[in-house]
Amino acid sequence: MPPAVRDLHTLLPVQRVIVTGGAGFIGSNFVHHLVRHTDAQVTVLDKLTYAASRASLAGLPEDRVRLVVGDIADAALVEPLVAEHDTVVHYAAESHNDNSLADPSPFVHTNIVGTFTLLEAVRKAGVRFHHVSTDEVYGDLELDDPERFHEHTPYRPSSPYSATKAGSDHLVRAWVRSFGVQATLSNCSNNYGPWQHVEKFIPRQITEILEGRRPRLYGKGENVRDWIHTEDHSSAVLAIIERGRIGETYLIGADGEKNNLEVVRMILELTGRDAGDFEHVTDRAGHDLRYAIDSTKLRTELGWRPAYADFAAGLAQTVEWYTQHRDWWAPAKHATEAAYAAKGQ
Ligand code: NAD
Ligand code: TYD
Repeated sequence: MPPAVRDLHTLLPVQRVIVTGGAGFIGSNFVHHLVRHTDAQVTVLDKLTYAASRASLAGLPEDRVRLVVGDIADAALVEPLVAEHDTVVHYAAESHNDNSLADPSPFVHTNIVGTFTLLEAVRKAGVRFHHVSTDEVYGDLELDDPERFHEHTPYRPSSPYSATKAGSDHLVRAWVRSFGVQATLSNCSNNYGPWQHVEKFIPRQITEILEGRRPRLYGKGENVRDWIHTEDHSSAVLAIIERGRIGETYLIGADGEKNNLEVVRMILELTGRDAGDFEHVTDRAGHDLRYAIDSTKLRTELGWRPAYADFAAGLAQTVEWYTQHRDWWAPAKHATEAAYAAKGQ
């Protein structure tokens, strides 16, 4: 193992940063966060897939943020670009479980080959790397399990999406240990907030109601997700980049466990609809039952705290955002619902 790789605190200032996937949901929120909270110059590297939106980056200062359109698996593009920066924050991914069941191929390409390509580039250029991952790499928990996921929970991914994210996590740890790459990792629970694609659970239900239709629950709606506002995810990632220990993994969560039925009922109440005004539809194949995060390490070691500790308040703000931003989500809505309808969902 290279000397002291595990003990080193990052001393690099966050100055010239690449944010991969910065035109997607969590990446774009992170770019806004970086611009507000640091002096960094930001390069967004994004392929602009169906999940991306240039509009999510609108209003950012042009002298601080630039967009490079390209594939993270394209070494000829990535290597010289990485060499011009001091930090890469890696959000780019194929991110939707349902899509990974329909066609796993882009998940292997982007999540595994893309991460490998970035790791080779940061290795050659000696650039700091932060890898953004998901709690789904740990599989699922029983509803009554007193344990939550922590940094030593064994990997047990269920879907092609979570399996490719697990593979990418393993690549990052191997590049730290074998090559001394200066990397940290984080595994976060389910995010909600502005600029999330309408294929995902919370925006789908809000926009279905706004379109005059009914929310759709997979199966019985008993599945539990541990919700965190995307702004809290961003503040945690920045804390890890600034103060995290190289080679370490930090779990990010805000104690936001709710089952899907509870969330749908909250959205119905916030939009003035009847609590029973939803439909049960075909369940997801292999549907993970429950995720729950123990974020003690992040809180005690880095002093991080969520600002959106009240899920009901964050959800109300999110409902308001989608109500006010129809122009942002409407272009993707029709095709998304057509794909769901074809699967009986
Ligand atoms: P998203 O699907 O909204 O955005 C992904 C972005 O990556 C898009 O802008 C897309 O164009 C870009 N992209 C895809 N393939 C690319 C490629 N080959 N090259 C360059 N860019 C490419 O995803 P998200 O929900 O914002 O998730 C971002 C990251 O956070 C992912 O790594 C995901 O695994 C992780 N994460 C997500 C959640 C969640 O609740 N959504 C929770 C924990 C972790
Ligand atoms: P999703 O937003 O796809 O995130 P993930 O699969 O990463 O957890 O789904 C969140 C939960 O909501 C999950 O249990 C599946 C469920 N779900 C529905 O019940 N109805 C829907 O229309 C969607 C998209 C998801």
